[in-house]
Amino acid sequence: MVQIILILILAYLLGSIPSGLIIGKVFYKTDIREHGSGNLGGTNTFRTLGVKAGLVVTLADILKGTLAASLPVLFSIDINPLLAGVFAVVGHTYPIFAGFRGGKAVATSGGVLLFCAPYLFVTVLVAFFISLYITKYVSLSSMIAGITAILFAVIEGFVQKWDIPLLIVVFLLVSFVIYRHRANIKRIMNKTEPKIKWL
Ligand code: G3P
Repeated sequence: MVQIILILILAYLLGSIPSGLIIGKVFYKTDIREHGSGNLGGTNTFRTLGVKAGLVVTLADILKGTLAASLPVLFSIDINPLLAGVFAVVGHTYPIFAGFRGGKAVATSGGVLLFCAPYLFVTVLVAFFISLYITKYVSLSSMIAGITAILFAVIEGFVQKWDIPLLIVVFLLVSFVIYRHRANIKRIMNKTEPKIKWL
């Protein structure tokens, strides 16, 4: 039991590493939370600091989820990797190392899927870029990609076999992602949400 608690704490701490804040402060002397959408995530890093920093932060945020989900396997602890992944997502969103002001759960959730259900990760990625190409909204595309993950997990259940823990975690993570995009949803409805210009 102690080992399980330690792994979940470690997963939370891993998720709490504020990559956007570190890259911004160390290399650009900028707190990205004071710019753009104020979000501590890859999109706001792209927006505020450019492509190179945006890519590094997005990849680091994905990696946090993947690494956290792999902890139970690495340490041979008998819990579902999805649970460790959820703790990393909570850490990414409410990071203890950054005053609990973190990101919107997208990239780190993606990283969890990459480890636990790679086919869903690929599906989510494809859905994200198709939606981004059509709508030009990163936030909307993140939510659409999440909803696609739920649909595919359900389809997989009908076609192959039901993975109930996966379905529950995907549903919870996507609900959380949508909850974290409340301000974006308002801006999309007011037509004030910024669109990307490079696709
Ligand atoms: O991953 C977060 C993205 O969906 C929206 O970010 O900065 O536009 O609120 P942002």
